[in-house]
Amino acid sequence: MGVAVGRFDPRGFFLFSPKKRLRASWSYKKRVIPRSVLCGSMLFALGLISLFIGQIAADLELSRLRGRWQSKRGRNEPIDIWKSKYSDLYYGCSDRGPHFRSALRESKSNGYLLIATSGGLNQQRTGITDAVVVARILNATLVVPELDHHSFWKDDSDFANIFDVDWFISSLSKDVTIVKRIPDKVMRSMEKPPYTMRPPRKSTPEYYLYQVLPILLRRRAVQLTKFDYRLANRLDDELQKLRCRVNYHALRFTRPIQVLGQIMFPQISGKSPLLKATTDKLNVLKRWPCKANIVDFVVLRFEPDMLAFSGCYYGGGEKERYELGEIRKRWATLPDLRPEDERSRGKCPLTPHEVGLMLRALGFENDTYMYIASGDIYGGEQTLQLLKDLFPNFYTKEMLAGDDLKPFLPFSSRLAAIDYIVCDESDVFVTNNNGNMAKMLAGRRCTGYF
Ligand SMILES: *[C@@H]1O[C@H](CO)[C@@H](O)[C@H](O)[C@H]1NC(C)=O
Ligand SMILES: *[C@@H]1O[C@H](CO)[C@@H](O)[C@H](O)[C@H]1NC(C)=O
Repeated sequence: MGVAVGRFDPRGFFLFSPKKRLRASWSYKKRVIPRSVLCGSMLFALGLISLFIGQIAADLELSRLRGRWQSKRGRNEPIDIWKSKYSDLYYGCSDRGPHFRSALRESKSNGYLLIATSGGLNQQRTGITDAVVVARILNATLVVPELDHHSFWKDDSDFANIFDVDWFISSLSKDVTIVKRIPDKVMRSMEKPPYTMRPPRKSTPEYYLYQVLPILLRRRAVQLTKFDYRLANRLDDELQKLRCRVNYHALRFTRPIQVLGQIMFPQISGKSPLLKATTDKLNVLKRWPCKANIVDFVVLRFEPDMLAFSGCYYGGGEKERYELGEIRKRWATLPDLRPEDERSRGKCPLTPHEVGLMLRALGFENDTYMYIASGDIYGGEQTLQLLKDLFPNFYTKEMLAGDDLKPFLPFSSRLAAIDYIVCDESDVFVTNNNGNMAKMLAGRRCTGYF
């Protein structure tokens, strides 16, 4: 689902670390549009076009990287809109407005909202984000969402195994009251178990106010199931900002996941006591070959379920048609797609080989280091070989973390969290499929630090 490209300096310092502070949201205040802002916007527009047309999200860093190379070769200086004198026209999306009222206390709320999320880690992340906003719309007290243990991804992890639950509760305390469970006293006073319902996709705030609130008031607790993409995209600004606060600030991975993710990403300067203490125990760093002065790396996803879902054909003959066809049967509601049509409409994720060709065409040379963020690659080694031929230096979390990864192996969501961290930290992120993870990361990389 995603390809990320990054580069790091083996001395331990991020070459582009300032970007994280300089990045801002896409919007800027309308006034006279100076030329350089216009150029910046056009760059953005080009980026967006590449995202939608080619299903390839190559973020701005790529052009910056190319700019660097070009300047090394003595051509034009790179354009860095974040450092331009107009960068203060860009602003972040996460800060609450001065008139956004405080959360209602538990005792004053309209009842308890229970949420059961659905799908893989990043899909569940959208569910959690929207759960907080729905609780806000309903003036409900949110119970920490329950993760999906039955999806295709089969993972028994609970919220607290993946996300820092105390941080989640405390960082959102001004916006929504969140509790770990319904207090026993309240449970005992309830006549019936919580009412369970499944809202339609992308329901409006009115839906929640007219269909869910009355039941919540009557029963004191409502459980919303299969909760992913259940809230409309269009919301008022303050609720959108709340979404940003949840997704980009309140959802923080637990420490063991963060530590491993950070360590896999070789940017340790020896300055962080937390990381230093842990690196002494883990020897991941030794496994990164740091022979070159500057190293690049790339991340790619290519899982069977994702391929089956796409309805495309990837050149694997009858065997592939049969195998992907079988997987497709898991989703009863998938439309009957003609693979040729999907491909001609540009809807098919790139194969690893195609990703390799694309990156080479963009100027990444064969000494680029790649990080492959993926569950099972369909076709395994054989599929990867063509990519490996183009980029011999490539790594997966299994290769990098070795034994340190063992405790995480039974938990697909924790593994996905590690990939998320590495992709998030990388300087360039490219995706071969615009799935949940790619969308989450694209948003986070644009606005996450505000
Ligand atoms: C939520 O609480 C606020 C402040 O008390 C109130 O103005 C608003 O109408 C309430 N909304 C609902 C749905 O209860
Ligand atoms: C990269 O390509 C060059 C020239 O084609 C070749 O000499 C070199 O061995 C390749 N490097 C790797 C790591 O394969």
